[in-house]
Amino acid sequence: MVDPNHPTPASPVPAGLQAALAGACGFSDEQLPDPLPAEPFSTLAEWLALASSGRTQPNPNAMTLATVGPDGQPSARIVLARGVDVSRGVVTFYTNYQSHKGRDIEANPRVALCFHWDQLDRQIRVEGLVARCPAMESDVYFRARPALSRVAAWASDQSQPVPSRQALLDKNDATERRFGIGPGSPAKSDMLVPRPPHWGGYRVYASAVELWRGHTHRLHDRARYERTLTPAEVDGTAGYIGGPWRATRLQP
Ligand SMILES: Cc1cc2nc3c(=O)[nH]c(=O)nc-3n(C[C@H](O)[C@H](O)[C@H](O)COP(=O)(O)O)c2cc1C
Repeated sequence: MVDPNHPTPASPVPAGLQAALAGACGFSDEQLPDPLPAEPFSTLAEWLALASSGRTQPNPNAMTLATVGPDGQPSARIVLARGVDVSRGVVTFYTNYQSHKGRDIEANPRVALCFHWDQLDRQIRVEGLVARCPAMESDVYFRARPALSRVAAWASDQSQPVPSRQALLDKNDATERRFGIGPGSPAKSDMLVPRPPHWGGYRVYASAVELWRGHTHRLHDRARYERTLTPAEVDGTAGYIGGPWRATRLQP
């Protein structure tokens, strides 16, 4: 029986984890410009460039992508931003269209992104609607990828079960042979790995963006931008045109 005056102590937390959870979260005294910039995407491009120039983070273009399944279940994972279109307010990433995220997006195009640059005390949140990149844009990006990454895009049915690690490696080897890649294969044959039809880019058309700068004593500075999106043909494919941005400063 549990005595309410002496609850069972929680299981002991290892010292290393305790230190991580207690982590002193120090912030500098930076803040957003006042008045706020008229639109948020120039700042997104600027902060990405800053994070990349400092070389303090191996993947400064890493962002959390949150999707929602047909049953309403949210799901989040990291992907890499591969394009930022400042004038359209678009962030592009590449993936397998039949993956968990791909299936979520095809059922519900509403997504959220979150960039976090720890060394810079900065975060950017994006909410919006997704549309596939024009096929030609995905082709150009796919061609620029290393040959073995292109093979892996064929070999991996992303997010599907596999009986063992070895089974996946065997499947990858067989795919390399199919495309004539590997020891003894003719030079340049890797040029022949085309983009799989189930692999390509997604454009996130932002309807809301939040810029965040950390500040001492938790007096962080936040600005939320919103705009409406209207369906339109963009670059020959379905996309959105964004209306004017409205900016609001938020309490931390
Ligand atoms: C740093 C980092 C970068 C990643 N970049 C991508 C990416 O650009 N595209 C992608 O499909 N998966 C990327 N992944 C893997 C995803 O996080 C995820 O495991 C995968 O896409 C399957 O997700 P899903 O099953 O939710 O669709 C990356 C993972 C990490 C840690």
